[in-house]
Amino acid sequence: MYRTHNCGELSRKDIGKEVILSGWIQKIRNLGSLFFIDIRDYFGVTQLIFSKKSVNKNFFLGKEFLIKVKGKVIERFSKNYNIPTGEIEISVSHIDLLNSSLSPPFTIENKTDGNEEIRMLYRYLDIRRDPIKNNLILRHNLALETRNFLSKNGFLEIETPVLINYTPEGARSFVVPSRTHINKFYTLAQSPQLFKQLLMIGGIDKYFQIVKCFRDEDSRSDRQIEFTQIDCEMSFVEVHDVLTFFEHFIKHIFKIIKNIQLDPFPCISYYDAIKMYGTDSPDIRFDIPFVELNDLVQKQDINLLKIQELVIGIKIKKCYNIHENDKMNCFLKKIENKNFFWIKYLYDRTLLYSDQNFLNKEIIKIFIKYFEANPGDLLFFSYGKKRKTREEFGKIRLKIADFLNLRNSKIFKPLWIKDLPLLEWEEKSKKYKSVHHPFTSPKEEDIHLLEKHPKKIRSKSYDLIINGIEIGSGSIRIHNKNVQNLIFKHLGLSKKEIESRFGFFVKAFEYGIPPHGGIAFGLDRLINILEGNQNIKNFIAFPKNNYGKDIMINAPSFLEKEKLKELHLR
Ligand code: AMO
Repeated sequence: MYRTHNCGELSRKDIGKEVILSGWIQKIRNLGSLFFIDIRDYFGVTQLIFSKKSVNKNFFLGKEFLIKVKGKVIERFSKNYNIPTGEIEISVSHIDLLNSSLSPPFTIENKTDGNEEIRMLYRYLDIRRDPIKNNLILRHNLALETRNFLSKNGFLEIETPVLINYTPEGARSFVVPSRTHINKFYTLAQSPQLFKQLLMIGGIDKYFQIVKCFRDEDSRSDRQIEFTQIDCEMSFVEVHDVLTFFEHFIKHIFKIIKNIQLDPFPCISYYDAIKMYGTDSPDIRFDIPFVELNDLVQKQDINLLKIQELVIGIKIKKCYNIHENDKMNCFLKKIENKNFFWIKYLYDRTLLYSDQNFLNKEIIKIFIKYFEANPGDLLFFSYGKKRKTREEFGKIRLKIADFLNLRNSKIFKPLWIKDLPLLEWEEKSKKYKSVHHPFTSPKEEDIHLLEKHPKKIRSKSYDLIINGIEIGSGSIRIHNKNVQNLIFKHLGLSKKEIESRFGFFVKAFEYGIPPHGGIAFGLDRLINILEGNQNIKNFIAFPKNNYGKDIMINAPSFLEKEKLKELHLR
């Protein structure tokens, strides 16, 4: 028998019991004739105490050695109320060595001295640490809750193929050579998009899948080349139905996993998001949108500003901190550029402002009055070409929020962005490309713009943004063969290309395709945001590094000549 109990369950009520425990040695304290050892397993840590005399085997013990001990539960002299087993210890009468261990390359405790690279190289040791282990438990709970919730609401989990043909999802695909079909290749699915649509044609009313997706793109803190989606599709729905149901889903997840009751999600158009926040994924934890000042600067005849395409500003209330003035000046210097200026309204009513030629006391007073600013408030402004100004000020808005600690990771502010543009111009290929994907339906009232103003067409698409991060994205799909062909044509696909790449798909449209739509959430991203937006790697058992490498198994790697030959690559 390896154990009668695990290392996390014994407490005061077990005092006096004879027990057997197995676990890895986390800490050894040698007090001469007495030893204290903490042993750890999946469930927790228990303190062992034994005298050298009581243990007849005289072997060396080190960190991460795996031992089995027999002994009696006794009350601990100095208690540790921070852990469930902290009031007891085991007085050991017998010890067996199950396995020895090399000295671990980093400290396997909550706080570790191991840098990311070394922890990735020995990921199995990293997983022994509570922070990573708990993240995996959380991931399991999230997946389980998702499955239960969606199943209860009539969604059926169906697996779709991973080895498929290239489907445009906006990223590069990984390519897998076929051994049996000379010079032919599979690609790894970037998402189950086409298959989930085919399931709707197949009469499946509601589908979901917790599914691995593969995209050959640069990794970042919220991006992996191999990641997991909660992928969903529903028949006979419009935008409103999808948003209502999945708002309910996300609220349920937050309630169950974090015990947080989310407020109703605001929903704004893409156009408004850009206009108000300069980005399509706004962080509304500090809900301070841009104020457009063109009318004001015209009316007040403010020289340099009145000729600008756009002048915008924001007011941050009561944030000036006299004790941090030096820090603030340093910050302002860093973000200063020639199309940006600021006003500080100090508590003694002094007005300080950026060193720019066109600014003077009179102009500053105009802004103070317009914004109804009070002492302690800060005003920030930007001007120039519309698009660039919004984009840059959007970034500055985030930097200001970071500097002023307005992005609290314990606060969650989801919002829907809808009506994203259908197409965007890609300079490199000199072609239009889909903003979401080519199966996204345009809004009916905009289809007439297809010939003359393709960029102006809005689509029936939506993104779920939480704290400035895109957590989910989806759309109502095209369910009309002619519209689908028209969109393919505008994406620069010839009739032949449409036939060879999507022939099977368009064919299926002819068998009574239902109206349908769906969404996919990034599971890794969702957990990451729930846990305060660290890095999605922390929630993946064996993640890739930022260069797409698994440094533990050393993938990707070269193939031997023989293998290449077999795959017809040589
Ligand atoms: P999309 O490509 O927007 O849509 O992906 C959906 C969601 O998946 C997550 N995600 C990622 N997470 C980690 N690493 C990545 N490399 C990565 N790429 C995407 C994001 C994103 O919002 N088939 C469509 C969905 C649909 O239309 O139903 C799709 O895949 O959270």
